[in-house]
Amino acid sequence: MGKENISFLTVWIILGEICATFSSDPEPTTGVFVNSTAVPLPTEWIRDYNDIVSKFSVRSADIPDDDMCYLVAGSPETIAECEFNPETQTFIVIHGWTVTGMFESWVPKLVSALFDREPTANVIVVDWLTRANQHYPTSAAYTKLVGRDVAKFVTWLQNELQLPWEKIHLLGYSLGAHVAGIAGDLTDHKISRITGLDPAGPTFEHADNQNTLSRDDAQFVDVLHTNTRGSPDRSIGIQRPVGHIDIYPNGGTFQPGCDIQNTLLGIALGGIKGLQNMDQLVKCSHERSIHLFIDSLLNIQQQSMAYRCNSKEAFNKGQCLSCRKNRCNNIGYNINKVRTTRSAKMYLKTRDMMPYKVFHYQVKVHVFSKDPLSFTEQPIKVSLYGTHGETEDIAHVLPVLEGNTTLSFLLTTDVDIGDLMIVKMRWEKDAIISWSDWWGSSKFHIRKLRIKSGEKQSKLIFSAKEGEFAYLVRGGGDDAVFVKSKEDTMSRKEKLMHKLKTQGSQFGQNDA
Ligand SMILES: *[C@@H]1O[C@H](CO)[C@@H](O)[C@H](O)[C@H]1NC(C)=O
Ligand SMILES: *[C@@H]1O[C@H](CO)[C@@H](O)[C@H](O)[C@H]1NC(C)=O
Repeated sequence: MGKENISFLTVWIILGEICATFSSDPEPTTGVFVNSTAVPLPTEWIRDYNDIVSKFSVRSADIPDDDMCYLVAGSPETIAECEFNPETQTFIVIHGWTVTGMFESWVPKLVSALFDREPTANVIVVDWLTRANQHYPTSAAYTKLVGRDVAKFVTWLQNELQLPWEKIHLLGYSLGAHVAGIAGDLTDHKISRITGLDPAGPTFEHADNQNTLSRDDAQFVDVLHTNTRGSPDRSIGIQRPVGHIDIYPNGGTFQPGCDIQNTLLGIALGGIKGLQNMDQLVKCSHERSIHLFIDSLLNIQQQSMAYRCNSKEAFNKGQCLSCRKNRCNNIGYNINKVRTTRSAKMYLKTRDMMPYKVFHYQVKVHVFSKDPLSFTEQPIKVSLYGTHGETEDIAHVLPVLEGNTTLSFLLTTDVDIGDLMIVKMRWEKDAIISWSDWWGSSKFHIRKLRIKSGEKQSKLIFSAKEGEFAYLVRGGGDDAVFVKSKEDTMSRKEKLMHKLKTQGSQFGQNDA
């Protein structure tokens, strides 16, 4: 808790800077403000390529980190010069606000990962560094002009080569996500897919759809929200859902491994580089959106799953691990393009490094007690043993532990243990000595556990290994041991029903 508060403070300081620049610079730079009523209909202006300022660099798998060739709208010869392949798909990568005025280190990483997965693809990196290297509010206002540039560029490329719109995928990070959205809004055909990687929050949270990434901007819009901490006005990443599918890894607020201690350790090991590293501290969670996407390109065997849920709180209780009716989906590149009528908020937990995948389990347990016992914030440790492996001593804190109630909580492990066979649970002693300590040992009886696996979609029942009950004894040191007793019969029936209902209605396309 303490660690998180410190880094929250750091985020606040930087955000304070952003807000200070905002208030000290109320007038947008002349020419930046594009009045939406003044934008003429697409057909007129979108084919005037003379005022394009952004540059479109065609990258290659061999040299992912440098601009070797620019495609220039209106100059068809550049298509051959840059060896653009009209037969395959095209990724257009759009960066965000920059402090240094240079491409950040994630750009070549994403470019390489795209080529790794789709070796014949065209990968274009949009360079709007000059406009992105202004005071934040100025750069934020520039997204409209850059979006126009991208819309014109895509329109030109499409006209020139009869490029199928289905083969164009825009990927935008931070302010770049809004650039992609504005571009998608302006083209007279819908772009196939826009991926928003933690779209910027400040000045966009309450803006209208025309000025931000929105679900109307492409056939399919998927969004990863990774840094949405704080009140909506101050969050670095936009908090509200803006796509067809909005995924909030680890609740979307803040990412594991991004606390100040970890980052400072990284800085110490990597040598002091001043501002750039301070910058890294704030951007860790923001940039995680990109690395999660890269992970989905590179680690196909460890595909992370996200689950639809009404709230982060319900997800953290393990209540949303269902895959029925498209409630679960792959995250990143391999997402199934499910277009629900309302935005779907989805959640998952991740590791603090690549590959990010974890396995999710819901544990439901009824705890009996003879005496009225009630505790809060109780630490427990759970060990899971399966057919392929095990994870021991997963720490969890139960917010409330009370006699004759049913608990539900979420456990995760990065180990694929196979089919779960044995579960052990131990009640640790917390620091606080409560009154009940004076009344002998505190003990709960447990008859069975119900465990649902998100990744395997299994519902299993575990019963006490010996006798009718296993015992959870406070600080007792002994494990309560449970063995698999049977598959949840209701779940099997549900699954069968589900199978019957959903056959033939899968979207499942992965072709963009
Ligand atoms: C928007 O454009 C119209 C027409 O050009 C103009 O009358 C109006 O004042 C502009 N509004 C803003 C807020 O600039
Ligand atoms: C819990 O339920 C059992 C029987 O189901 C009962 O004997 C016991 O008194 C209850 N405990 C409390 C604290 O209400």
